[in-house]
Amino acid sequence: MSYLVYARKYRPKSFEELIGQKGVKQTLQNAIRNQRVAQAYIFSGTRGVGKTTVARILAKALNCKEGPTPTPCNVCELCTEINEDRSVDVIEIDGASNTSVDDVRSLREGVQYKPIHCRTKVIIIDEIHMLSKSAFNALLKTLEEPPPNTVFIFATTEFHKVPATIVSRCQHFEFKRISHTEIFEHLGRIAGKEGITISDPGLNLITDAAEGSLRDAQSLLDQAVAFSGEQVKDEDLKEILGTINQDLMFQCSSAILEEQPDRIFTQVEKIIDSGYDLRRFHEELIRHFRNLLLVRSVKKPEELLPHTADDIQRLREEASKAGAEDLLRYLLSLQQGEQGLKFSSHPRIYLEAMLIKLCHYRKLTPLKDLLKQVQELGGQASGIQERETRMQPKPRPAEPEPKPAPQTVPKAATAPEPSPHSPLPPSKAEIRPVPEKEAQSNESRPAESGNSTEADAVLRDPAVMNFMQTFKAQILSVEPKKGEKIATRKIEDLMD
Ligand SMILES: Nc1ncnc2c1ncn2[C@@H]1O[C@H](COP(=O)(O)OP(=O)(O)O)[C@@H](O)[C@H]1O
Ligand SMILES: [Mg+2]
Ligand SMILES: [Zn+2]
Repeated sequence: MSYLVYARKYRPKSFEELIGQKGVKQTLQNAIRNQRVAQAYIFSGTRGVGKTTVARILAKALNCKEGPTPTPCNVCELCTEINEDRSVDVIEIDGASNTSVDDVRSLREGVQYKPIHCRTKVIIIDEIHMLSKSAFNALLKTLEEPPPNTVFIFATTEFHKVPATIVSRCQHFEFKRISHTEIFEHLGRIAGKEGITISDPGLNLITDAAEGSLRDAQSLLDQAVAFSGEQVKDEDLKEILGTINQDLMFQCSSAILEEQPDRIFTQVEKIIDSGYDLRRFHEELIRHFRNLLLVRSVKKPEELLPHTADDIQRLREEASKAGAEDLLRYLLSLQQGEQGLKFSSHPRIYLEAMLIKLCHYRKLTPLKDLLKQVQELGGQASGIQERETRMQPKPRPAEPEPKPAPQTVPKAATAPEPSPHSPLPPSKAEIRPVPEKEAQSNESRPAESGNSTEADAVLRDPAVMNFMQTFKAQILSVEPKKGEKIATRKIEDLMD
């Protein structure tokens, strides 16, 4: 027997074998049971999720020798003909290559004749959205006066392109993407039946790449077996799927976590040399940081990651170079750079700048440290003031004190404009009151925040307000109009 690709070999022959699409399955089976089958259906959904498969099962269900049945026998002559794609009454037309009005006209003429072998003629038009306007109009006429004993099934991956006039004459079923678990398990079953050795992480790589399409998943498995034989190695899969080398990911995250911006340029050079698309690399880097954050935050990451124990250990070691909070910031920052990179006319420079900025991330002075410094400054200043007050009860209007500190606070509170290259996410930690103990810890945090509401929040922070209060007293003490009394009282308050 000639070789059959897995996608065809494993095409479900009955509703029971169909994976997912529960609603579609149930509604159609009930319709057949209750003899309420519509004259026209439209199946929409992404490629490889079962539209053609269901159309054929429905054709068998309507024509099986055992009568219209939700469970066609698959052995009678009519079922076999349909399974083997040689039934004269079940006609499949590719809408993409039969787009003209003439194609639809000849179809209309064809449907005037009674079915030859079957009870019900089934016309399946795939990719119906590709039909021309005139072809749609011709089809519409057929749908307005549908010939008896004929069921139309239209399939499309672009439902929005199908004219409403057609849609309104059909029962519409939306086919969903197949879940990760369902694809993973299905591939595992096929591998078992075919005697293929493939690891779980390997199956996961395929499942991820298939993005919800069972046909894509099966085709990738086919490709893997053609490439490496029945022993499919993870390395081979990475080659086939063009998965970005994990070493590159780790080299990049190490440069960031070890704060070595000079390594970024060679790193980006390597990525380009390896032929990877920079945006793809960036996406993969986001996933990598997500995994680092996951292993840093979760007790049993092996339950959530499809990686081997060795890979998880490697992630753990890498993640230990930073706190979970920092990893979260790197992740958010990388995500925020996604759009910018997408539309940048110099993606290489954009990526370099973004990664270099991440390398400097933890070096940026945390606001809480700035605050502490300012508070200390405030303390010193009030100390001086205190001494001066004691020595000289009257303020000296002729010699106004410089006013550096009130500017210092808003400055510390208001972050620099986020650069288009790697806008750093605002940090809650920067604007919350800092408990003394925590403020003394050495763990560093970046000190950027984005907008004025955050600046306002910082200004309302009890620690800042306290400082402002202190500061006001010092200013008042040199403002002749406001009078020395207030100033002296405030300073005395401070002395208590
Ligand atoms: N829901 C499904 N259950 C089981 N296999 C499926 C399913 N969807 C797709 N497949 C597999 O993918 C192949 C192509 O599916 P098909 O029904 O032609 O997809 P499409 O939605 O593009 O019409 C099938 O032969 C089958 O092997
Ligand atoms: Mg199809
Ligand atoms: Zn049958």
